[in-house]
Amino acid sequence: MSTRDLYTSSVSPTTHEIPLVGDTRFTWEYDDGRDKLLALYQKGKDRQWDSVKRIDWDLEVDPHDVLGVPDQSLAVYGTRHWERMSERERGELRRHSVSWQFSQFVHGEQGAMITAARIVETVPDLDSKFYSATQTMDEARHVEVFSRFLQEKIGMVYPINTKLQDLLNETLTDGRWDMPYLGMQVLIEGLALAAFGVMRDVTTKPLPKQILAYVMQDEARHVAFGRLALRDYYKDLSASEMREREEFVIEGCYLMRDRIRGREIWENFGIDAREVDEMVENSPYMRMFQSLLFSRIVPCVKDIGLWSPRIRETFEEMGVLDASKADLDALMRGDEEIAERLDAERFAAEEADRKAEVDAVIAAEAAVS
Ligand SMILES: [Fe+2]
Ligand SMILES: [Fe+2]
Repeated sequence: MSTRDLYTSSVSPTTHEIPLVGDTRFTWEYDDGRDKLLALYQKGKDRQWDSVKRIDWDLEVDPHDVLGVPDQSLAVYGTRHWERMSERERGELRRHSVSWQFSQFVHGEQGAMITAARIVETVPDLDSKFYSATQTMDEARHVEVFSRFLQEKIGMVYPINTKLQDLLNETLTDGRWDMPYLGMQVLIEGLALAAFGVMRDVTTKPLPKQILAYVMQDEARHVAFGRLALRDYYKDLSASEMREREEFVIEGCYLMRDRIRGREIWENFGIDAREVDEMVENSPYMRMFQSLLFSRIVPCVKDIGLWSPRIRETFEEMGVLDASKADLDALMRGDEEIAERLDAERFAAEEADRKAEVDAVIAAEAAVS
């Protein structure tokens, strides 16, 4: 079935064009790679995986309870709209909500794939070109995984959120080579990584858990790449150039904060936008979720050196400044370990099943003879 038939509202045309800007760069220096970046590239090569083999697509998913989380996670929970809904309508709402979330993931992942490919072209250094080439493949896999999950298991797709679209447009129409890094690797990926993390940790269902844990294992490398490349570059920029980057971050953070309100979902249930904002602001879960979403962006912005009083005030005003204390390296090691542990548990369970089967065959043969 074409994705067109699964969209909650019509998407036309089905392609979106952004004119190419900036220079494509060759380098003739093949031998000056930075050790840390080359090590990350090696890791990128070593950790490639195939979603067809690694993910257990036979696992069943209830489209009306995809994540198996308490309803308190819905901003509408406990309001008069919630009280009015039948059990069937609540199931439908859960489906819309998770479809919206995963739809933004898949559109964002497509943006990441396109941006990673763009970085291969525009970045001046070969080590960064190498690394970004592996990231392009990682992001293709993420698009593949999320779109399959949406189409086969949820059966409903939301169009791209306009704020996310704006941020992608801004990121891709800037000719300076570091801006796609900043918009994509730091802001969009940072927000997505935090959202994946919350869902990975709260879901009680095995299929979304596998998908999120394995995608996060890759994303941990991507954020590390953005940090390494930008930290080096920003050391040498002038004060006015740094200010331009900070403006971009500030504007981007506001766009992302607005995006996570998910107004499109509620409009489908006849709840108007103003009321949604109020609901989101009054929902303890949403408030917690919102601050968690910036938990990866804030320390990264600090780490790459964009840490002027203006940036700090913005984060303070958004109530997320505390996140600057987070240890990004520890978070990333945690993401990798969770994926590895999940593999180990799954493969140990499969091994035990196989052994039980063999034992049963041996016992049956012994009984016959
Ligand atoms: Fe990704
Ligand atoms: Fe990524």
